Amino acid sequence: MSLILGIETSCDETGLAVVKDGTTVLSNVVISQIDTHRAFGGVVPEIASRMHTEVIYQLTQRALEEAGLSATRGAAPVDAIAATFGPGLMGSLLVGLSFGRAAAAAWHIPFLPVHHIEGHLFSVFLGERRPEYPFLALVVSGGHTQIIRCRAPHQYQVLGTTRDDAVGECFDKVARLLNLPYPGGPSIQKAAAEGDDNAYSFPIGLSAKSTLDFSYSGLKTAVLYALREHPDAPVADVAASFQRAAVDALILKTAAALEETGIHRLVIAGGVAANRRLRESAAGLDAKLFLPDMAYCVDNGAMIAAAAASRLTHQCSLPPDIPAAATITLMDSAGN
Ligand SMILES: Nc1ncnc2c1ncn2[C@@H]1O[C@H](COP(=O)(O)OP(=O)(O)OP(=O)(O)O)[C@@H](O)[C@H]1O
Ligand SMILES: [Mg+2]
Repeated sequence: MSLILGIETSCDETGLAVVKDGTTVLSNVVISQIDTHRAFGGVVPEIASRMHTEVIYQLTQRALEEAGLSATRGAAPVDAIAATFGPGLMGSLLVGLSFGRAAAAAWHIPFLPVHHIEGHLFSVFLGERRPEYPFLALVVSGGHTQIIRCRAPHQYQVLGTTRDDAVGECFDKVARLLNLPYPGGPSIQKAAAEGDDNAYSFPIGLSAKSTLDFSYSGLKTAVLYALREHPDAPVADVAASFQRAAVDALILKTAAALEETGIHRLVIAGGVAANRRLRESAAGLDAKLFLPDMAYCVDNGAMIAAAAASRLTHQCSLPPDIPAAATITLMDSAGN
């Protein structure tokens, strides 16, 4: 049996979790800073790292307690500690990474750094229904829009990526244009529920090109121009039409990737995987679909512990002293 304490502090959520054997979540506590950052319309990096520092100690105690573990003097309550080393906000990453490394050193247990996107991928392994390899993964979050071929554990090939904005970032920017609160994804989804998704015809980036890459900057600009042209446009209609185009772009490229690779298992992960329209549309794809529970779509420590547990099992853990990295591509088992 292995118990891993997972730490996630790459952006504006402080996530601590204890996961047993890489799949069973014993505790998962997340403090979101969204209410603080909302006033600024987006994440303020300096505030984010300070807030992680304020809560990480107590949140660790809570995660251990809720898992039925106690950090008695000298004895390690878990077998290893995992933390996100990148990509993300440098100050925020350093809080979780340094805290995790120090605790692992004090308890004389291994420290396991985890790539944040690999963490999102492993959110689907937290539960009963897990994908077999090979599978395709659509990772859709605030900073990433990628189609990844997962050939075997920790063997990745990025087939498509965004050439400009990430889809979550696009939801956030369009929400700002519509005066909807941050984060944009949930508020656009809510507004869209009352709207006509055919009211406006917004473009799908790179739709005519034979590439699996995405582009979202044109969609954002199209919404801006539509609002200039129709200042009284109903917010619900713009939100619904935008959401349709944003999701259709994901479905179009994912369908092409499934066909190209002949793989028919699909994982969707990351914050945007919480989107109802995306979940419904993806159900129509020619693939067996694996979606994380809603609780594991947003950033959390459990997915980080799950990824670390798998690397430990497959003997390809990343070096414990790997530096924090604001931008870094997903690494495979060979460290490439
Ligand atoms: N229901 C939803 N529909 C669409 N987008 C959503 C929904 N819920 C959350 N999002 C979006 O998900 C993003 C946050 O996801 P996540 O926390 O995974 O991103 P991140 O950690 O900031 O970025 P990354 O994982 O790329 O480093 C935000 O852009 C948010 O608007
Ligand atoms: Mg994330």
